[in-house]
Amino acid sequence: MPNDIFNEVEQFLNNAFVKEDAALLKTKQSIIDGKLPLISVSENQGKFLHILTRLCNPKKILEIGTLGGYSTIWMARALQPGGQLISLELDQHHADVALANFREAGLQDKITIRLGKALDTLPKLVEEGAGPFDVIFIDADKEPYAEYFEWSLKLSKPGTLIIADNVVREGHILDKNTKDSEVIGVQRLINVMANTNGITATIIQNVGNKNHDGIALAIVDEAK
Ligand code: SAH
Ligand code: DHB
Ligand code: MG
Repeated sequence: MPNDIFNEVEQFLNNAFVKEDAALLKTKQSIIDGKLPLISVSENQGKFLHILTRLCNPKKILEIGTLGGYSTIWMARALQPGGQLISLELDQHHADVALANFREAGLQDKITIRLGKALDTLPKLVEEGAGPFDVIFIDADKEPYAEYFEWSLKLSKPGTLIIADNVVREGHILDKNTKDSEVIGVQRLINVMANTNGITATIIQNVGNKNHDGIALAIVDEAK
């Protein structure tokens, strides 16, 4: 079974590289205790997000899909002094759990959760002039991924890094006749990303202790 070797390597890499502190460990426990879905990014993906984010020297980060705040904490720890992260979340319970985790991590002054449907809050961020963001992480419901990406472009500047999680879906993205609405959502995103001028984009496949999946990366060359 290839999954056994993927899992073993993931465990080895986590042990070697991912030193989670009390706040990250408590965040994972809070997700279990609060009965939130167990769909946070993996430990090593969290570290990878942190490294990508650090490379952008960010003052402003936007996340779409907070859950318990596990990915949020990894990214917020890459903020420049005085930097701010806004995370969009639909579910009040998820937001409550995440806010407690941000306090535990000492990040409560750097992170704001905007409660509501992201398709409602994203236009508000544009109206308010909340952008441009240096890093945007798309990780909420998959059906509107293409729309989240279009809104992200409006909240970008040249050099903004846009990241999207779960874009390979065990290879189901190859199925042109799929009826799976999440797969269709990701296929639409890939089509938009591959055909938008003014961005430099690719997708990297992931294996590990989660399913075969992938992360999309796009650097904005020309803002919209
Ligand atoms: N980024 C998190 C995982 C996010 S899971 C991590 O890796 O730690 C996806 C989250 O998106 C869930 O908390 C879910 O409630 C939220 N969500 C789902 N649909 C949404 C919508 N339309 N608008 C905003 N958030 C949504
Ligand atoms: C799942 C995983 C994710 O990373 C996510 O954002 C949503 C769902 C899942 O495994 O079902
Ligand atoms: Mg995800």
